[in-house]
Amino acid sequence: MTSLIRFTSRLASPLRPLSVTSSVTMTPPSVSYHSTSTPLQSLTPCSTDGRGYKHGAIDVHTHCYLPRYMEMLRNRHPNVPYIIPGATPSHDERYVILPGEDKDKTSAVGRPIGEEYFSIAEKIRYMDRHGIDVSVLSLANPWLDFLPRGEAVHMATLLNDDLQEISEESAGRIYGFGVLPTQDVIASCKEVERMAAATTKVRGVILGTSGAGKGLDDPALDPLYETLAKHNMPIFLHPHYGLGNEHYANTGHSLFLALGFPFETTMAVSRLILSGCFDRHPNLKMLLAHAGGTLPFLSGRLDSCVEHDHEMCDKLLQKPSDYMKSNFYYDSVIYHTPALKSVIEMVGEDKLMFGTDNPFFPPPGEGARSGAEWISTSKNMDAIDGLKDAKVSDDIIWRNASNVLGIEVPEIIR
Ligand code: URA
Ligand code: ZN
Repeated sequence: MTSLIRFTSRLASPLRPLSVTSSVTMTPPSVSYHSTSTPLQSLTPCSTDGRGYKHGAIDVHTHCYLPRYMEMLRNRHPNVPYIIPGATPSHDERYVILPGEDKDKTSAVGRPIGEEYFSIAEKIRYMDRHGIDVSVLSLANPWLDFLPRGEAVHMATLLNDDLQEISEESAGRIYGFGVLPTQDVIASCKEVERMAAATTKVRGVILGTSGAGKGLDDPALDPLYETLAKHNMPIFLHPHYGLGNEHYANTGHSLFLALGFPFETTMAVSRLILSGCFDRHPNLKMLLAHAGGTLPFLSGRLDSCVEHDHEMCDKLLQKPSDYMKSNFYYDSVIYHTPALKSVIEMVGEDKLMFGTDNPFFPPPGEGARSGAEWISTSKNMDAIDGLKDAKVSDDIIWRNASNVLGIEVPEIIR
């Protein structure tokens, strides 16, 4: 597909080179992404109602259950995760992905899932509506964590090829974070090598916190970290399992998502730092979902506790907070100016990148597909505006992602 949009590169030191020529043949996907007639590269003016969006954002935290993945989930009932038909043909399908969600008997099981979760055309429509020019798309949780090893390996290749094809057809609107069969570390390394050689649009990988089943500080993952660091491919670390779930009874999804998710990230990253991973892999980079959970806020305490634990202190070359500055980036999905300020204070304004968590947290009812404004997105952008510093806002909204992930920004935007 050809594009009318011209591109300009604003790259300082991209983690992935932009001009990789493909020497490996990628498998042609057998599914179609064109579920509506919206052209994939459409870039219509943003609406001026509601918040009044400007063009220019790069969204590094935005998900899609690719059609191939949807098909797999439809064939899994009653094993979580799964998707089941709606009550009648006019009702949305329902999906069950979170631990314990299948036990929820308060209404119908799970949550409604519509085109906003799997249609690329719908994603582009949402992007156009909210001034998002480029999305770095990732599969949403729980990725391939639940599959037997062989199936996970096979699916990873197909899904990463799908992602590459979608990106190629999008005229620069879409890039990707690939997915890995982490239960098989050697196969994951091979998939990273394959993507590095064959793809130009996959800029890193999304990973959950389970690793090969024992968490991210499992030494068995060292070859994977080495391979990712070698290819300058960052890990987008995202929670799924929640932490402290036993405390969230009768609170629906609220506390699981508000607390369980960030606590899970905090724990996984703290353990990883304390395992000495970043001394062994100083070039490994991670982008942390939800502004790093509670980690930036707790970093002083973490430093102090490690300092007073001599065995741990002797094991690490630096303070935990030093690794948090040198090896990590943080998305802005925190909806709160003071929280953004504290991340900036802690790690610097060059470490934050705009994210939305779309298609989660949609407007109620049919809103997600009516072209309505997503309050979750506008709140998030308002929090960045609340910093009242145009340069820092631009850093977060697009410049850091452009520099770090090597993303070209359509020139008509600025
Ligand atoms: N809920 C999820 O299951 N995943 C997200 O990324 C956000 C909300
Ligand atoms: Zn997310």
